[in-house]
Amino acid sequence: MKKVCVVGLGYIGLPTSAIFASAGFDVIGVDVNETVVATINSGDIHIEETGLAELVNRVVKEGKFRAQLAPEEADVFIIAVPTPIHDDYTANIDYVIEATKSVAPYLRKGNVVIVESTIPPRTMDDVVAPIIREHGFDPERDVYLAHCPERVLPGRILIELVENTRIVGGVTKEAAKQAADVYRAIVKGEVIETEAVTAEMAKLMENTFRDVNIALANELVKIAQRIGVNAHKVIELANKHPRVNIHLPGPGVGGHCLAVDPYFIVEKAKEESQLIQTARRINNSMPHFVVEQIKRMTAELEAPVIAVFGLTYKGNTDDVRESPAIEIYEELCRNERFDVRAYDPHVKPSQVPFPLATKEEALDGAHLVVVLADHNEFKTLTAEELAPMKTKVIFDTKHCVRLDDEDVTVYQIGHLSVVRAIQEHPSERV
Ligand SMILES: NC(=O)c1ccc[n+]([C@@H]2O[C@H](COP(=O)([O-])OP(=O)(O)OC[C@H]3O[C@@H](n4cnc5c(N)ncnc54)[C@H](O)[C@@H]3O)[C@@H](O)[C@H]2O)c1
Repeated sequence: MKKVCVVGLGYIGLPTSAIFASAGFDVIGVDVNETVVATINSGDIHIEETGLAELVNRVVKEGKFRAQLAPEEADVFIIAVPTPIHDDYTANIDYVIEATKSVAPYLRKGNVVIVESTIPPRTMDDVVAPIIREHGFDPERDVYLAHCPERVLPGRILIELVENTRIVGGVTKEAAKQAADVYRAIVKGEVIETEAVTAEMAKLMENTFRDVNIALANELVKIAQRIGVNAHKVIELANKHPRVNIHLPGPGVGGHCLAVDPYFIVEKAKEESQLIQTARRINNSMPHFVVEQIKRMTAELEAPVIAVFGLTYKGNTDDVRESPAIEIYEELCRNERFDVRAYDPHVKPSQVPFPLATKEEALDGAHLVVVLADHNEFKTLTAEELAPMKTKVIFDTKHCVRLDDEDVTVYQIGHLSVVRAIQEHPSERV
């Protein structure tokens, strides 16, 4: 059985390592973070993902998977390091460059090197291949270079890693085949071979498609407020058309895929990517739009107390990267009128640069709960849980709260034309 070296043990690299190990591969995981390495070797994990803790614990105990700070020789190298954006919205591929350089001294002829990190178009050909060449290998003959993007959904990563269709883009045809064969050992879905640049672009367009369509839904929220119509109802009815699928609006787009990947295209084709840029602007405008609605709701209160519920960009995960909820929390805190408390049952205090409240602390004397993540805990909120609030009003920006109680007013993001300023003693429910 082949030996696999996975570089970067985060949301992608760690489950990938565990899946290869559980399929019988000998897996070495590499991370520059000492705590990550120590945590994994003790049989524990540092991220939240369904089923992952048990799987990692098992494969570490079985001796199929161990973590370390530097790579070593292997048959297959998989790079899954972050690819964030710089402040000027250009791609930061420094981690990919570093990771490629770190494996290069351990390469042997016939090795497969796969980049799973999301990368700008032509990165395999123009950046990764030259690094390999600098280390004395012909990237078209000696080693097999491929890009195999990830398209897993957090919370379902272990299932989707196995079941999703995989696109494997090789720097050469043979590289695509060799890399695809690696995945065929663990993937039940289809494994499609293509060129590296096509795989790079396909991944970016998947997320761009979603970003643009969420922007359309978010624009509808603003239009609906102006016109006086319920956007959620409009979406529900429009989506009865067999070929229409309007996405869900929300407080903005977060995570380091949808909120980041479209910029990788913009950087390479600025003039041609007008729609993509507009969509990014609309989605980026949503956190401020949410704050403006909160101001409207609390305009008649002397000292509004606001409980922010949910800081992650996605429900039922602990992932706060690029989260619009954090942006909203921080903008609220900058407003001296507000007493803002943040509560998230999935987020640890070490993940955010501000104090977290317990649910009880957040609700105590609050005028408004702003739901910013569709965690299950918020979907099932009850009027009894809200008893410590001064005025029981919820602003649900994720359209997820199911609470239907005459003592509680729930404002949905798609139905903002009905919002009225909160009074200390609210009268009727909307
Ligand atoms: N998380 C997702 O759902 C998802 C989905 C699709 C694609 N992706 C892409 O996959 C890539 C990895 O994302 P992630 O969510 O796993 O990131 P992550 O931040 O969770 O993990 C990356 C890990 O890489 C480590 N690292 C950084 N530089 C390193 C180096 N030179 N050598 C070894 N380790 C290094 C970090 O310490 C970290 O533990 C990104 O390009 C991302 O865009 C992520």
